[in-house]
Amino acid sequence: MRPGLPSGTSLLVSFARGLGVDTHEIDPLASELLPPVLAQLAAAPRHLGGVAGLYRAAVRATTFGLIDHMVLRTQAIDAHLASALQSGIDQLVILGAGLDARAWRLEVLKDVTVFEVDHPATQRYKRTRMSQMRPPGDIRYVSVDFETERFSSILEGAGFRSAAPSAWIWEGVAMYLPLDAVHDTLGQLTSLAAAGSELAMTYRVPGMLPYGSLGRVAIPAVFAAAGEPLKATLQPHELASAVAPDWDVTFDEDSRGWRKLTGSTANASRSFLSERLAIVKRRG
Ligand SMILES: C[S@@+](CC[C@H](N)C(=O)[O-])C[C@H]1O[C@@H](n2cnc3c(N)ncnc32)[C@H](O)[C@@H]1O
Repeated sequence: MRPGLPSGTSLLVSFARGLGVDTHEIDPLASELLPPVLAQLAAAPRHLGGVAGLYRAAVRATTFGLIDHMVLRTQAIDAHLASALQSGIDQLVILGAGLDARAWRLEVLKDVTVFEVDHPATQRYKRTRMSQMRPPGDIRYVSVDFETERFSSILEGAGFRSAAPSAWIWEGVAMYLPLDAVHDTLGQLTSLAAAGSELAMTYRVPGMLPYGSLGRVAIPAVFAAAGEPLKATLQPHELASAVAPDWDVTFDEDSRGWRKLTGSTANASRSFLSERLAIVKRRG
């Protein structure tokens, strides 16, 4: 993170959701959240009529599949969330929320208390952008740096009930943290999550960057230059050990398997297979 500035990768993800991959954006609020130029580029298909699809395809091509990957990731987590909430869970914690607009755009969250936990700089930016936008439900902000601060007591101070089951989303964040901060966050989560709670998190496995030796050098360099170097990696068995014995892994797949959650028949994104989505459920 660059001092005092919101996370650049959070803008990128919001841009992807604002643009969308086929006929529609999946996050209409992205244009409220993004800085003006990015907002206009994301919302351009609304005004382009018959050439909107062509424009989207051209922009998507410049990111070598990253836009498709991020959109699919959000759709998979949305689908999981809708099913997790059917058990009656009424609190959701979004760790590293960035410009995630689920609390505004998902009808299933209208009676759910949403806690957005994020780095102070990103959260400050988001709150300013959303200040005119009335929250549809109950949104509470918790500002914390995962590398230097603990969020468990602050979250409880904000009204989180650790005796009741909860849903957690940790989307596209763990790979930017040192491994010990990932373990520490999982430990805090275990101390807060009652039996039946569910966590959907993405993480990066070692290696597996696309585009051969060029990708292995260029992709980490681009993230480092943007002030958000890629850090923690885990093998699937290491993630399972990190959450054991308190959580059961119920799903752990790279993007080829995410359509099992969305029910989509579209071709899965195949470029960024280094990121996996794991869903874990707290044991009773
Ligand atoms: C790629 S963005 C993902 C944002 C959001 N989860 C989404 O999918 O739209 C990474 C997020 O991690 C947050 N982050 C990175 N390092 C952090 C840290 N040390 N403490 C708290 N948040 C951090 C950033 O502020 C940013 O919101």
